[in-house]
Amino acid sequence: MHPGASAEPQRLFFALWPDEAARASLAALAREVAQTAGGRPTPADKIHLTLAFLGQQPAARIPALRRLADGVDARAFALALDEIGCFPRTGIAWLGASTAQSGLAALHLQLRLALQGNGFPVDERPYAPHLTLARRSRSALQRRLAEPIAWSVSSFTLVTSDLGADGSTYHTLAEWRLRPG
Ligand code: 2AM
Repeated sequence: MHPGASAEPQRLFFALWPDEAARASLAALAREVAQTAGGRPTPADKIHLTLAFLGQQPAARIPALRRLADGVDARAFALALDEIGCFPRTGIAWLGASTAQSGLAALHLQLRLALQGNGFPVDERPYAPHLTLARRSRSALQRRLAEPIAWSVSSFTLVTSDLGADGSTYHTLAEWRLRPG
């Protein structure tokens, strides 16, 4: 069955997906990082930036998520990621931003408030955007790219994640366009 059509609870998140050029750069960086620090690079088609992770949600709540996302009125923006780091406990090597990303922060805030207002769980910690480059990395990493990897963000998506032995499989349920910036 189509994952979006399932009546089972689903692991859901809102995310940004890179455009083709950024995806290729990010995939190359992921391979390079996994070569240096060990671990498994994120495959190109799975590279994304999470805006809000919702955990397992009843399928019946998906219409509410669609409605609240319909109400998000944010502008398209440029995103530039340049800071490589890792979460040593989980072995996740990531790419984040060394400078404030105001467009991203504005979109995230709107979504967070809408989720909160509709009774969905939100992370109380400040939003620290990170895109997973590799998993099960062994050594600590910290470095800044000379040239950020950048793309123009013109939409965001609601995605299901199915955990499998071979990693997660993602399926986009819906996509929302941002207002031209
Ligand atoms: P990760 O790449 O660091 O694992 C789907 O699982 C997406 O939601 C991934 O981007 C994942 O981040 C993120 N995610 C998974 N569990 C999470 C959690 N407990 N809190 C925040 N984000 C999470």
